Amino acid sequence: MSSVGILGGSGLTRLKNLEIRHRRIIRTPFGEASGPLTFGVLNGQEIVFLARHGYGHTIPPHRVNYRANIWALHHVGVSHLIAVTAVGGITAAMQSGVLLVPDQLIDYTHARPSTFFEGGEAQQVIHIDFSEPYCANVRQRLLQGAEKAGISVHPGGTYAATQGPRLETAAEIRRIERDGGDVVGMTGCPEAVLAREIGLCYAPLSLVVNPAAGKAAEPITMEGIDAVMHEGMERVRAVLAAAVPL
Ligand code: HPA
Repeated sequence: MSSVGILGGSGLTRLKNLEIRHRRIIRTPFGEASGPLTFGVLNGQEIVFLARHGYGHTIPPHRVNYRANIWALHHVGVSHLIAVTAVGGITAAMQSGVLLVPDQLIDYTHARPSTFFEGGEAQQVIHIDFSEPYCANVRQRLLQGAEKAGISVHPGGTYAATQGPRLETAAEIRRIERDGGDVVGMTGCPEAVLAREIGLCYAPLSLVVNPAAGKAAEPITMEGIDAVMHEGMERVRAVLAAAVPL
């Protein structure tokens, strides 16, 4: 049987429609996860939820202990993981408010512990195949869930992962666009890498919360982001509820 995990991002520190059963702190070889895992029932399906930035949204993207989070979720038996992320929109289709299930990834992050395979005497050197970074099964379920819920979701896109926590310069966004990036966020890597390494089926559900740097005349403000986030995360919750059971 598959077991579903949901990693909540900015704007999704809790799932209102989750009937919480219990919380559990998991000890990991990589230190502390972002918080205790929340076990509950969503639309009749038992799931495990974790807020990536902590339940009080206090952990910035470059300080998230991605290894501990992924290890903990895997440890409690999660096999399929949905990662909710807020992103900036780069290409024309990616206007604020758009929901998408990305299908590709470019990594611009640096200095983040980004593998479980550190080598050493006891461990062989391992290079995972990452040509298709996301799990086709979870992606499909998300798209079907959206259809069931009557919510429009863009069925693809390339997610560019930047280091943060600052936003990008306009020139950086032009470069990312030339590289083929459709949306930009700060948490997609190394999360997706680690999920693949440990054998978790992982896919993102992303909400565009602002035009990326240089894509609109006005500066990017937290107030503007919050307004889009508030409404958009209601649609995210509806898609998640319809996408489980996986
Ligand atoms: N850039 C990077 N990460 C983001 C953005 C952005 O514009 N918006 C939300 N997360």
